[in-house]
Amino acid sequence: MFEALKPLPQDPILQLMQTFRDDPRPDKVDLGIGVYKDDAGNTPIMAAVHEAERRLLDGETTKSYVGPAGAAGFNDAMGRLILGNESALIRDGRTSVVQTPGGCGALRMAAEFLRLCKPDTTVWVSTPTWANHLPLLGGAGLNIREYPYLNQDTLQVDFNAMLEVLEGAHSGDVVLLHGCCHNPSGADLTFDQWRAVTSLIQRKGLLPFVDMAYQGLGDGLDQDAAGLRHLASQVPEMLVAASCSKNFGLYRERTGALMLISATATINAAATSQLLSVIRSHYSMPPAHGAAIVETILGDDELRTRWQDELDGMCKRILHLRHSFADALAPAGDFSFIARQRGMFSFLGITPEQVRRLREENGIYLLDSSRVNVAGLNDRVLPMVAKAIRDIL
Ligand code: LMR
Repeated sequence: MFEALKPLPQDPILQLMQTFRDDPRPDKVDLGIGVYKDDAGNTPIMAAVHEAERRLLDGETTKSYVGPAGAAGFNDAMGRLILGNESALIRDGRTSVVQTPGGCGALRMAAEFLRLCKPDTTVWVSTPTWANHLPLLGGAGLNIREYPYLNQDTLQVDFNAMLEVLEGAHSGDVVLLHGCCHNPSGADLTFDQWRAVTSLIQRKGLLPFVDMAYQGLGDGLDQDAAGLRHLASQVPEMLVAASCSKNFGLYRERTGALMLISATATINAAATSQLLSVIRSHYSMPPAHGAAIVETILGDDELRTRWQDELDGMCKRILHLRHSFADALAPAGDFSFIARQRGMFSFLGITPEQVRRLREENGIYLLDSSRVNVAGLNDRVLPMVAKAIRDIL
């Protein structure tokens, strides 16, 4: 049976990660896959994570199953992180959260759940969007439609074009929004734009689905969730996929969460029972370790403060790098948008051929689309990277 299968190319982000690892040049720079790096170019384990793991190792009493929903303490803490401690939605029982294997697990389980609700569901995604959104959602059988998001000339949000196309969506269609730190563009909606898109979603009866993969790495934990929280407060139903990969640095622990918001507590209980059955038929139960770390951190005042300080430090460092990078590129053109954008990514707006030359001639790795992971820079390599880009331009 297998002999009929043709070899597939690797996912471009993962392929680039591998090519970088195989490159023997000592001064190579990885601005490809979205991982945070410190001044020394390493992706460190956060101190709060280390301490939580130490406590877990000392205090752990069992490896028994966690159940399809995962750990209740983690789910409760994630709900509050996303919606805020004072959320009326949580108080009224209109929300439920399940622990998932990473943000990808949350996205895919949401897609399977949506297909269960309505087999011909259409989901609208931004152009561009994270490349893996398409197989994660489309692979579950959802119809994918695209709405324009980024003006290719200015590399900023083309909000009018976005609204104009979403006017053509039908009641019951799903709209996927990036909660903050848009991947791949770094161009986020302003709060006023969140309000406008919320009005459109309400008026047209669309179902919002927010991917929150970078909370805390844009402007701060609460600021990054402001648009999502406004939207959640106005609509009867919503989905949120959250990831702990970046803000807790738990990439390989595959730690994420999926939140359902329903019109009433009764509807939510029934919807959650369906979601749990979907999970049971896919991977049965999520892995425990990463979620236990997050639960330990968020449930302890001292650890939580330590984690938040570290996260704030990462966020400020990315902002500093954004400003330095934009300044260093300035002689070659107006790159001030890099300083205005948020999160790990921005486009440079250069051609695939120029990207190839940066990789082959300078050992600088970025995606063919020209998406650059600003969080992969540091003050040591930044001048060299900027000079190589200026030279190529
Ligand atoms: C990225 O966009 O680089 C990250 O989200 C990592 C991934 O899995 O693609």
